Amino acid sequence: MTDWQELERKYLMNTFKRQPVTLVRGQGARVWDDQGKEYLDFVGGWAVNVLGHAHPEIVAAVSEQARTLIHTSNQFYTVPQIRLAELLIENSCFDKVFFCNSGAEANEGAVKLARRYGSLHLNGAYGVITALNSFHGRTLAMVAATGQPKFQQHYAPLPEGFVNVEYNNVEAIKRATGSETCAVMLEAVQGEGGVNVPADDYLKEVRSWCDEQGILLILDEIQTGMGRMGTLFAYQQSGIEPDIMTLAKGLAGGVPTGAFVAKDRVCVFAPGDHGSTFGGNPLACAAGYATLKFILENGVVENCSRVGKYLVAGLDRLSAKFEKIVEVRGRGLLVALEFSSDIAESVLKACLEEGLLLNVVKPNALRFMPPLIIGESEVDEAIGILERVLARA
Ligand SMILES: Cc1ncc(COP(=O)(O)O)c(C=O)c1O
Repeated sequence: MTDWQELERKYLMNTFKRQPVTLVRGQGARVWDDQGKEYLDFVGGWAVNVLGHAHPEIVAAVSEQARTLIHTSNQFYTVPQIRLAELLIENSCFDKVFFCNSGAEANEGAVKLARRYGSLHLNGAYGVITALNSFHGRTLAMVAATGQPKFQQHYAPLPEGFVNVEYNNVEAIKRATGSETCAVMLEAVQGEGGVNVPADDYLKEVRSWCDEQGILLILDEIQTGMGRMGTLFAYQQSGIEPDIMTLAKGLAGGVPTGAFVAKDRVCVFAPGDHGSTFGGNPLACAAGYATLKFILENGVVENCSRVGKYLVAGLDRLSAKFEKIVEVRGRGLLVALEFSSDIAESVLKACLEEGLLLNVVKPNALRFMPPLIIGESEVDEAIGILERVLARA
């Protein structure tokens, strides 16, 4: 049998801390490795597989589009791009969209748009305030935006114009705001930073401050969007509307794509100001349209909200039983379990043995981000495995 992991070590750059599992197939919330072993997938492709694996609507849309037209270029109009744009805009508070290929790229575009707005309406202001512990992507500018020194070291000099301040603290944003500031960029809930849920009024206060200062609010919903919080977008729960929102991950159910959407008054790009070869590609947009349409028409968001609460209740039960659990936090189906010590990696490995895939978000915390279509029985199964593992740990 081919040793894929040996070949990976030979041919790929050593950037990912991979688990020793080679996945070859998926169906719903389950995946199988090359030895035929089955796993319950609570990683969900890092919050991408919102409809699970091999969802029939996505498979049909991608197959049909692949047979019809995979790629042209943005020199021409293409129908899937326009259909997805209409569906996104008609189901959000925004007016226009730009499609790209990843989360980092969506955030780059959003910052470029904010700077373009700054150059036109804010005397050339270019600065963007972001939060400590945030995660906005791996391009150089997004590394500067990401308020985590471990991602920034080794890459100096980073692009100028980013200030990282404490999350969930509007005063810190106020102190960092200057005449050079054009925008504040935040996650609605910090995902990679450890599933950090801010106070209920945080985004409202930030919104008021941005309005007072005439600066823009960019919400990075790359991880929280597409239903994961129990509403289609997280901003809908916070009582505010951002000026710009970024999406990727679940947007096309697993086909790489990203987008930023904005209010009309902020859409200041002129032809040639921004672009992309692959962005809005017919194949990706057909997948995106099928994904979003299914989410909207089949109660996926409601399911996520209900099953998310069920998952938290199950984890709370484990927390009452095991002293080593110190906190259960999250919203919808983005949940973290924090331990009193750095045992997340060993718990993850034991769960893997038992057929449950999880993610270590911090040395002392596990993250759960399963497909949004899972049911209570899959949660019961996952909790059962965790309970057995924690009893031994
Ligand atoms: C909130 C957030 N923003 C941006 C990104 C970067 O997305 P990508 O890896 O697609 O560039 C991520 C990825 O985890 C993310 O969680």
